[in-house]
Amino acid sequence: IPKNLVPLDNRISVKTTALCLTEPAANALVAMVGDMEKEGLSITMTSGFRSRDVQTSIHSASAPTLTVTSDTGSTKYPSVALPGHSEHQLGVALDLKSGSDPTFSYDNFKNSPEYAWLSKNAWNYGFIQSYQPGTESITGYIAESWHYRYVGKDHVEEIRDQGISTYEYLKNL
Ligand code: DAL
Ligand code: ZN
Repeated sequence: IPKNLVPLDNRISVKTTALCLTEPAANALVAMVGDMEKEGLSITMTSGFRSRDVQTSIHSASAPTLTVTSDTGSTKYPSVALPGHSEHQLGVALDLKSGSDPTFSYDNFKNSPEYAWLSKNAWNYGFIQSYQPGTESITGYIAESWHYRYVGKDHVEEIRDQGISTYEYLKNL
């Protein structure tokens, strides 16, 4: 459990006030969301730091892990990490939902103006979408438009310039 976890409280819109991130990640998120709101966008944080116990319950309730359909050869990737393998346990990853989507659905997030903004600007605040479309076979997860990891500005620029997934970048460090 990271030592520098802080609650987001009501500094931004949160699903529950218990949501925490490490202090640098929380401060960067508050700055980013503030700038989004200035542009009329609306975003709610739905998940942040997860203990191993929380990740265990989310994982138990989730669809089965990686499955390959033998006749078509198609692969279905999971959207929830095994306990002990989740970026959420590091306190630097978070999930977002769009306030402009009345159905409040993760699947629709990629079509929201908030996602368009994040795709263009999140790196300026040190955030990166961990699981991007086309990287499923590398990361082992479905593309998650709603899941961001704080890596800080220096690393995010390197990842962007190298054009690789966060997973590959971290493995190479
Ligand atoms: N949704 C991501 C993969 C996690 O469970 O950490
Ligand atoms: Zn997530």
